[in-house]
Amino acid sequence: MESIIAAKATDISKLERTGAHSHIRGLGLDDKLESRPNSQGMVGQLKARKAAGVIVKVIKQGKISGRAIMMAGAPGTGKTAIAMAMSQELGDVPFTSIAASEVFSLEISKTESLTQAFRRSIGVRIKEESEVIEGEVVEIQIDRSVTGVGPKTGKLTLKTTDMETIYDLGQKMITSLTKEKVMAGDVIQIDKTTGRITRLGRSFTRARDFDATGPDVKFVQCPDGELQTRKEIVHLVSLHEIDVINSRQQGFLALFSGETGEIKSEVREQINQKISEWCEEGKAEIVPGVLFIDEIQKLDMECFSFLNRALEDTMAPVVIMASNRGMSRIRGTNYQSPHGVPIDFLDRLLIISTQAYSEDDIRQILKIRCDEEEVDMTEDALAVLTKVATETSLRYAIHLISTGHLVAQKRQASKVDVVDIKRVYSLFLDEARSVQYLKDYQDEYMYNEIAPSHGEQMAVDSI
Ligand SMILES: Nc1ncnc2c1ncn2[C@@H]1O[C@H](COP(=O)(O)OP(=O)(O)OP(=O)(O)O)[C@@H](O)[C@H]1O
Ligand SMILES: [Mg+2]
Repeated sequence: MESIIAAKATDISKLERTGAHSHIRGLGLDDKLESRPNSQGMVGQLKARKAAGVIVKVIKQGKISGRAIMMAGAPGTGKTAIAMAMSQELGDVPFTSIAASEVFSLEISKTESLTQAFRRSIGVRIKEESEVIEGEVVEIQIDRSVTGVGPKTGKLTLKTTDMETIYDLGQKMITSLTKEKVMAGDVIQIDKTTGRITRLGRSFTRARDFDATGPDVKFVQCPDGELQTRKEIVHLVSLHEIDVINSRQQGFLALFSGETGEIKSEVREQINQKISEWCEEGKAEIVPGVLFIDEIQKLDMECFSFLNRALEDTMAPVVIMASNRGMSRIRGTNYQSPHGVPIDFLDRLLIISTQAYSEDDIRQILKIRCDEEEVDMTEDALAVLTKVATETSLRYAIHLISTGHLVAQKRQASKVDVVDIKRVYSLFLDEARSVQYLKDYQDEYMYNEIAPSHGEQMAVDSI
């Protein structure tokens, strides 16, 4: 016999990486949706953050769908960052993020790709009733055969305030109990159909068993009434997932590989019809989410006209776009338009503009990034780095943090100092210096052409 507490589960060490936006945990707004100057990893850009907050609020209330919002501003002013913050704030509302260029795939058409992105952003909350056993664990007893081989068996005693029952345990249940680290005094829920065990918390009656409990221990009441109850369980799936599962060619495994191919429109129509029936019967609920399309100027006329129509559909998500272009050519045409977006489409958008950062904002963003990348930096070095950011770009300065850290480690210093920043500044070029270098030495490069004028460069880029 062996107590379950002794059973050891191997901890899988978590792999953490710092991405460009990993320091962002929310929009950093207060209850009145006013932007706090520096909160949840967000600094400055007060107006744009507040506007984003208002939109998140109405989306969460399920009040709007089929709207389109655009964030316009210079590179590095936090458009993508704000979109990421919105996705954090939205919680379990579906959020899909794509870059406009992803639409141009050879395998599926542009419209199919956009349709899939749209449908990925619409959730369906499906309610299901299932039988569960819910109670406080009185005792877990696990028996092993004398030889130590062969399956384990055991008994689990559960109680509510009104009754107590002993259940026989099979191998599978023993494994899940061990995995969940269930012990006497826990209140647990067992789904009868799937056998899944959920730990709801520790029972209040056992609160005084230990002197010290961690801050993450949740205390709950011991359930009353019968051990077996019916519970309503809610699943949230996206329309796209339902499409893939129901399209006969692919099967649900395509969800993992992403090779979904084109999905027939009849399949989608049938699904839409079924879901509206479920909604009427109260079995399901539509949750319109958010589709974020970054670098919107990379879409062409066909995509924009598709978006125009798709946004008018009753089951459309809120589409948020970002562009850092000024007047530029619409992809595939010779027409110039603001942000590279056709005027008629622009007219349907709510536009949030992002402004350039002040020096103080930049300093604070760099400080947050240092913390995120676990880099210690002296105040002087931070001041120099801020200066570098104002003269080059915020992104370039952010890149110097980790490289500066490496250089500091090399000279066995624990803190990044001014010398390290100077060193990496000379090692890695920013955009302006790199362009200057190219101009100076262009004869030495292959395929060199005389530097095109700014306008032509844009044209090449947008084709
Ligand atoms: N207000 C902010 N608070 C904290 N970090 C920010 C803020 N704005 C930008 N950043 C950080 O600065 C970097 C550049 O910002 P971001 O990528 O959002 O710019 P962008 O507006 O999307 O630029 P582009 O037009 O080039 O795509 C990112 O690492 C981002 O997380
Ligand atoms: Mg961006």
